[in-house]
Amino acid sequence: MKTMRFKYVILFFVSLFLFTDCSVKNDVTKIVITSDDYMKFNTREIIVQSGKIVKLTLKHIGQLDVQVMGHNFVLLKKKVNLIEFANKAATARDNQYIPVGSDEVIVYTDMIGGGQETTIEFLPPEPGVYDFVCSFPGHYAMMKGKFIVE
Ligand code: CU
Repeated sequence: MKTMRFKYVILFFVSLFLFTDCSVKNDVTKIVITSDDYMKFNTREIIVQSGKIVKLTLKHIGQLDVQVMGHNFVLLKKKVNLIEFANKAATARDNQYIPVGSDEVIVYTDMIGGGQETTIEFLPPEPGVYDFVCSFPGHYAMMKGKFIVE
């Protein structure tokens, strides 16, 4: 009976070690989002863990040119009004539709066209719910979602 219990204790420590090992190797959250010629992201919700680096790839699986159907991923700070931001961004054509000197953005990708992809790496902000959006003129109506940091 006693050796039985001892085995469980060993098993417990072994599993603890394995789990810890996994989380160390695995401390980057990889996220792939696609966008298309129909002004859509493939998701409206992204969930990540606090303190874990996020490696986010945006793919444009359509064919239209960046000038016509460009997409990006812009993560907004809390309390930023998405519509007001999008209207400002729409005038910033020479800056990839990111308002020059903006303090409303946490991170953003390049603007890409059909067949392209772009990747960014960043440490997520403090736990909470944030908006993400594509800042190409007019796209915010359809291309937006929640970025949740747990
Ligand atoms: Cu877009």
